[in-house]
Amino acid sequence: MSNRIGPEHGLSGDSWAGLCSRLGALTDQLRETQAAGSLRWRDLVRSPLSEEHVDQVSEVADQVRAYYAESAPGGRCKHMVVLGIGGSALGNIALQAALRPQTHNLTSCKFRPGPRLYVMDNVDPALVGDLMLQLERADPGLQHTMVNVISKSGETAETAAQFLIFRDWLRRHLGAERAGRHIVAITDSSQGTMRAIVDREGYLNLPVPDGVGGRFSVLSPVGLFSACMGELDIAHLLAGAADMDRQCSESDPHRNPAAQLAGMLIEFATNRGKPNHVMMPYSNSLYMLADWYRQLWAESLGKRIDLDGREVFAGATPIKALGTTDQHSQVQLYREGPNDKVIGFVEVERFAHDVTIPSGLGVEALSYLEGKTLGTLLNAEKRATEYALVESNRPNYTIRMPEISEYTVGQFLMLWQVATAYAGLLLHIDAYDQPAVETGKVATFGLMGRPGYEQWAEKVDKSLGG
Ligand code: PA5
Repeated sequence: MSNRIGPEHGLSGDSWAGLCSRLGALTDQLRETQAAGSLRWRDLVRSPLSEEHVDQVSEVADQVRAYYAESAPGGRCKHMVVLGIGGSALGNIALQAALRPQTHNLTSCKFRPGPRLYVMDNVDPALVGDLMLQLERADPGLQHTMVNVISKSGETAETAAQFLIFRDWLRRHLGAERAGRHIVAITDSSQGTMRAIVDREGYLNLPVPDGVGGRFSVLSPVGLFSACMGELDIAHLLAGAADMDRQCSESDPHRNPAAQLAGMLIEFATNRGKPNHVMMPYSNSLYMLADWYRQLWAESLGKRIDLDGREVFAGATPIKALGTTDQHSQVQLYREGPNDKVIGFVEVERFAHDVTIPSGLGVEALSYLEGKTLGTLLNAEKRATEYALVESNRPNYTIRMPEISEYTVGQFLMLWQVATAYAGLLLHIDAYDQPAVETGKVATFGLMGRPGYEQWAEKVDKSLGG
C-alpha cells in the first residue's frame, strides 16, 4: 500500500476501495457462471464429483498394486513414469515435489511409500533415452515399472511420441499382453485419439473430466492418480481445496483471498506499470508449485483479443524464484532494477524437519548462528528481503502456510485457480482457451509430415525461410 511504499508505487486506500467494489460484482458473476455449469474445475472439489474421483482413483491404484503384488518379485511397483506435458504434467510434478521428500527418488524401497516418480514432460532425447537406460539397469525386464500416459486429446505430439516409445519398450521387455497391464491412461472419457487407443488396447484408465482444461486439472484424476500411487492423502488435498473454494466464494473481497490477489496483481499490471509477478517460495518443496502457477497465469491470461474481439495483448508475466537461493541471483534486480514487478513470497511456519546449527567452532563471527535452526535462518532471510524491498518501494506480499501438508497445498492450488478466474474477468478475456499454443501444435504436425497439415509446413517455410 502507498503508506508503506509511497504513492507512486503503492495502492492508496481509495483506489483499493474502488477495486473492492468491482471485485464484489465479479464474485456474483463467477457464481452465476458456475451455476450455469461453466466452471467445471471448481466442481472437482465439491460433492459428489470429489468423492467420485477419490473412489475411482483409489480403485485403479488398488488394482495396479494388486497386479504388481501378484506379478512382480517382491510384490511392488517401484518405478512410475508419467508421460504428459503442460497441464497434464505440471500438477503431478508440483504435488510430488511439495508433499514427498526431495530425496524421494533416491530413497530405497524400504523407506519409500509408493514408486519412484519420473514425469517426462519433454521430448529431449537425452532425457528420455537416459531414463529408459537407467530403468533397464534398475529393473531388468521392467516387472516393477509402470507407465501413466496423460493426455486429454491424445493428439499432443510430445506425449504421443513418448507413448509410442514407452508402449513399444514395455512390449519388447514384457510381451504384448503383459505390457498393457503396465499402462494406465488418463484421457477424455468419450472422445479423442487416446480414448480410441484405450478402448482398443484395454488399458486401465481414468477420465479427464468434461469441461476441465489441462491447467485447471490438477485436482482431477490427472493430478490425483500419481499422488495416490505415492500414498498421498488425496481426500485431504481435496478438502483443503474445497475449504479454500468456500473462502474464495465470499462476496466481501476483504474475506476473499483470491479476489484480493487477482485485484491487486491486475491493478499493478495494468495501471501501475508492474506487469511482472514473481512467485518466490522460501521452501524448496514449494518451488514446483510456482512452476505449476506459472503455466496457469501465463496461459490463462496472455491473450491477444478480449471478449469483445478487441486487440488488447493482455497478460502479466509470471516469474518463479526460490528463497534464499535467488537472493544471491535475482534480488539485486528486484530491488534496484526497473520497478515493474510485484514479489509474492510464500513462507512456511513449521517445516517437516528442522535442523539445528551446532555450536563449538569457537569463531566469533559465526557464533550468532549457533543453536539456531535452519528454519529460523530461512524465515529471517525472507523477512530481511521483504524489508529490503519495502525500503526500495517495491510492492510485495506474503502467503504464509502454517505447514506443508496435503490440506495446505490443496488450499494453495485452489487459491490460485480462483485468482486466475478473477484475473480473467478483470482483464475481460477468455481465461480458458490457448489459441497461441494450438498454433504451435498444428504447425508441428505440418513440420512432422502429418497428413492434412501440409499447409502448415508451407506457412512455416514461407514465414521463416526454407
Ligand atoms: O493447459 C493446457 O490445456 C495445456 O497445457 C495442455 O494440458 C497440454 O497442451 C497437453 O494437452 P493434452 O492433455 O491434450 O495432451
